[in-house]
Amino acid sequence: MPLKTSDLVVATDSLNKAYQLGDVEVEVLKGITFKVARGEFVAICGPSGSGKTTLLNIISGIDRTTSGKIIVLGEDLTVQDENFLADFRCNHVGFVFQSYNLVSTLTVAENVAFPMEWSRKPEEEVETRVAELLETVGLQHRANHFPAQLSGGEQQRVAFARALANDPELILADEPTGNLDTKNGQKITQMLRTLKANGKTVIVATHDPELMQLADRTVCLEDGRIASLNE
Ligand SMILES: Nc1ncnc2c1ncn2[C@@H]1O[C@H](COP(=O)(O)OP(=O)(O)O)[C@@H](O)[C@H]1O
Ligand SMILES: [Mg+2]
Repeated sequence: MPLKTSDLVVATDSLNKAYQLGDVEVEVLKGITFKVARGEFVAICGPSGSGKTTLLNIISGIDRTTSGKIIVLGEDLTVQDENFLADFRCNHVGFVFQSYNLVSTLTVAENVAFPMEWSRKPEEEVETRVAELLETVGLQHRANHFPAQLSGGEQQRVAFARALANDPELILADEPTGNLDTKNGQKITQMLRTLKANGKTVIVATHDPELMQLADRTVCLEDGRIASLNE
């Protein structure tokens, strides 16, 4: 299904998210209004618990707002059902999770192929693309291994390859270098640099100074609110 063209990839307006814990309502995001244009690289910073992961989850359609508006790639995510959101995520948004989230029972190659199979891409195309992506992340030789046989840095690179499988317009990464040593962190930073050079829209939650330097601008969250915007 073709998406509407727009120079804005993400637009939120007074976005709120609250969790109901028994009788208590915990407000996690409070009136978030921000925009990300096509081709921008935005870093989201802020202390642990400030709402970075929750915001990325809402932008990707994994999680829903309590109130307020969120439009991603021209689609109003607040009015869509779960089936639409699952397809939307698979085809248009690449998400790199902090804890990799690879499927432990699938091989490296099968993990990378997964989004393309969900989108019913022809088998030949899937095979070629998996090989290409594994080469990009330097893991062709690990194609038939399982995630548990890989180091954290290698698993994160597989997660990157999987996120890029369907060539999404928007890439979200949640503290992608947070759990890695310097060498692996730099590999991930280099991959993000390449995505930026290729004009992809990237939003990354991070504390990493190198990644923040790569960003066109930084949005800092503090207790669920935007504390500062650095253009
Ligand atoms: N499913 C949930 N239920 C209740 N509270 C949650 C849930 N997910 C996150 N929170 C709370 O929301 C706040 C923000 O969390 P999170 O978005 O993970 O922050 P960050 O990624 O910046 O560390 C935290 O106080 C966290 O405890
Ligand atoms: Mg987080």
